[in-house]
Amino acid sequence: MFFILLVFVMFANFMVNALIDPIDLIKSHSYPAERHFAVTDDGYIITIHRISRGKHLNKTGPPVLLGHGTGSSSADFLNAGPERGLGYILADSGFDVWIGNSRGNSYSTNHIKYNSEREAKAFYNFSFHDIGYYDYPAQIDYVLNVTGKSKLYFIGHSQGGTAYYVMGSTRTDYNNKIRLAVLLGAPAIMKNTPQKLFRIFADVIFDVEDLANLMGLYHIPFLESQRMFAYKFCSLPKNHKLCQDFMYLFLGFEDNEQNNMGKTFKFFLSTPSDFSLKTLLHFGQIIKSETFRQYDYRPEGNLRQYGAIEPPIYNLSLIISPLALFCGKNDASLNLKDVEIMEKLLPNVVYKYIVPWNKFNHGDFVLATDVVNLLYNDLIRILKMY
Ligand SMILES: *[C@@H]1O[C@H](CO)[C@@H](O)[C@H](O)[C@H]1NC(C)=O
Ligand SMILES: *[C@@H]1O[C@H](CO)[C@@H](O)[C@H](O)[C@H]1NC(C)=O
Ligand SMILES: *[C@@H]1O[C@H](CO)[C@@H](O)[C@H](O)[C@H]1NC(C)=O
Ligand SMILES: *[C@@H]1O[C@H](CO)[C@@H](O)[C@H](O)[C@H]1NC(C)=O
Repeated sequence: MFFILLVFVMFANFMVNALIDPIDLIKSHSYPAERHFAVTDDGYIITIHRISRGKHLNKTGPPVLLGHGTGSSSADFLNAGPERGLGYILADSGFDVWIGNSRGNSYSTNHIKYNSEREAKAFYNFSFHDIGYYDYPAQIDYVLNVTGKSKLYFIGHSQGGTAYYVMGSTRTDYNNKIRLAVLLGAPAIMKNTPQKLFRIFADVIFDVEDLANLMGLYHIPFLESQRMFAYKFCSLPKNHKLCQDFMYLFLGFEDNEQNNMGKTFKFFLSTPSDFSLKTLLHFGQIIKSETFRQYDYRPEGNLRQYGAIEPPIYNLSLIISPLALFCGKNDASLNLKDVEIMEKLLPNVVYKYIVPWNKFNHGDFVLATDVVNLLYNDLIRILKMY
């Protein structure tokens, strides 16, 4: 009996430690890997994974910083391997690739003052606003300092791009440090978000906040054991359809051709990754108010926080860095009608690309089987023009 228990504990331990290390992943494909830490002005320690050059390249090229989506991590750009993983493809195309991990995800759980578990209330008190306002400037300054360059490229997927809109409109001097920002399926205005589930959630957003506070729930935790279970479950061909259908709830309608679960189940080794509840609430507020604006602390809180009853809007007209927008026609988070509204407000959209695949959904930007032909080739081409 004791022996069985011992084996179980050892196995459970193994599962707890199973979080893949992006450094190992990069090295396993024979690319140079480095880990860096950038400290934000409000004390979060951001882990950045770097591939400084391509497999067969000698020279380190111009830096590009990548930002991942909600519930994701740097592993998003690495899991698919050198053929389809954007991190490797950029490196092989001559870029110096820096892949950030937003505060609170599995790789960025440290803070100079707060313990993420014992002081969860303070630690997880952030949304994509803080990622844009603090994390990106810290990472940009860090990368420019190490590389000795004055500008870099930025690529953001989903919330990674939402946070870029925050930075560009609230830390306006950072626009001057960007050669080109490529935003992949990145929502800002969410007036026409097609996903019914999101709308239902948005309608009760303040009740959700009250309930979460009552329960002391400050973040959406994902345990290693849960990811390992999803990884094993979805690796079995008989479960592929179930796993795909589950993902479509969040990403867009089915795209079975591009979402080959036989390939994408590997993502469950690192995704989903932890994020704050406040992030989810902020997105819900954006959908409910149909306005891209700062976190709504309700009238009294807003008066304290902003000196006004309503939260300030993010002024998109202040984002003067050049932007390239990449959009899918079947993206549950970003509707093309909203892209048109945003384009009218953004002063420097230099390129817009609607991926030529009707079922292209929110996850396809990193998951699609044909992502290189459908998207990355064009992305690299436009980067090299700036
Ligand atoms: C890299 O450097 C080595 C030695 O300096 C040289 O022999 C090789 O041709 C270089 N490769 C490329 C792709 O420049
Ligand atoms: C969370 O952040 C807001 C805005 O900065 C602040 O007003 C509030 O006091 C913070 N709450 C906690 C628990 O730290
Ligand atoms: C820039 O790098 C130097 C050393 O190379 C270091 O002393 C300095 O603190 C760095 N500054 C920032 C903002 O990281
Ligand atoms: C947004 O910024 C522009 C340019 O500075 C300014 O003209 C406009 O009044 C601002 N809009 C709002 C709502 O603050």
